Amino acid sequence: MKYLLDLNDRPFKAIKLGTKKVEGRTPTVWDKTPYNNLQKGDLIHFVNNLTKEEMDVEVIFIHHYPDVRMMLEKEGVENVLSGEPKTIEYGIESYNSFDGYKDGIVKNGIYAIGIKTIQQDFYDKVAKKFGSYLNSAKYIQEFPKGSPEEIFKEKLIEVSGKEKTVLDSGCGDGRFTLLIAPYFKKVIGNDTSKLMLNAAKKLQKEKKIKNVEFIEVDSHMLNFPDEYFNVIYARRSPMELNSFYKMIKKGGYLLYIGIGEKDTKDLKQIFGRGQNYGKWDEPVLEQFKNEFEKAGFKVVFAKGYEYNEYYASYEDLNTFLQGVPIFEDYDSEKDKIYLWQYVKKFQTEKGINLPRHRIVFVVKKHS
Ligand SMILES: C[S@@+](CC[C@H](N)C(=O)[O-])C[C@H]1O[C@@H](n2cnc3c(N)ncnc32)[C@H](O)[C@@H]1O
Repeated sequence: MKYLLDLNDRPFKAIKLGTKKVEGRTPTVWDKTPYNNLQKGDLIHFVNNLTKEEMDVEVIFIHHYPDVRMMLEKEGVENVLSGEPKTIEYGIESYNSFDGYKDGIVKNGIYAIGIKTIQQDFYDKVAKKFGSYLNSAKYIQEFPKGSPEEIFKEKLIEVSGKEKTVLDSGCGDGRFTLLIAPYFKKVIGNDTSKLMLNAAKKLQKEKKIKNVEFIEVDSHMLNFPDEYFNVIYARRSPMELNSFYKMIKKGGYLLYIGIGEKDTKDLKQIFGRGQNYGKWDEPVLEQFKNEFEKAGFKVVFAKGYEYNEYYASYEDLNTFLQGVPIFEDYDSEKDKIYLWQYVKKFQTEKGINLPRHRIVFVVKKHS
């Protein structure tokens, strides 16, 4: 089911940023949404009351509470509240101040809706524009400590085998999926972007590769039997660690290449926004290590890679930025002023320098 809901500007922005993960709602005289019927997997189409901006999110859980206090205690104030101070008392006060909520909550309790933003629109847009996850920007790369992409591929081939089944979580346009297919018996690539999957299937046909299956399923909703895969990997795409752990065979592997906290930091600073903005001092390598271990995996390889890209021209960097989620709302016209500022500051003899940061993990399920 898809529900249409209005939302104030501040919570809208917090949900978009990913800092607000739970929306508390109750039916009122003016809001007849049947929150009691909401289910995991439903979609909510939020409209920003102020800006009229729209955003689709997916419902990942529904918890029902008798009152706001219990909701905030159980779900965590930091996940529910978008305003300050993030305290239970302030939370109760603000929910009670919404039109009809005080009475509505006494009558119906309150529904904590766990939500996840859907990046699908962005990737569909990219696939529409460039035909795949590849664009024509010209650049060179310099790796002082080796190429993380190459190292990831080597590590994946090390754990591959002609009798093994592998999952590519968030496979995108399938170029990499098809590249490693010869090393495995079977490869399943899942993604939420229909257009990326179309590009993947087209390439598969062209390459006449038979042992790959592309499926349109959210990585958080995969439902393969326990111990189905020898290996799962994700390349800058989402993981659902507890379910991945279950789906991997004993002694099997999970590989991940992701974005480090310092990636394109100067660019984001000049733009004043961007993916993981401002989190430069929160080491992603450590955070992932903890998450993998918490899910039961043993970390066998974990390394960060800082390297440089040099873009041939302003236009090349502009093209690049249209095809990546560094700024999902990147606008060639509106952002001109920032991009010129960056180009002036980071122009070198080799081109416009863009420092990158990646992390690579190989983790193992116990035998
Ligand atoms: C940065 S791209 C990487 C694509 C591919 N892994 C690669 O290396 O070229 C991220 C991909 O993850 C997909 N994605 C985002 N959220 C997803 C989700 N919840 N489930 C499955 N795929 C998702 C996007 O549609 C996109 O294709």
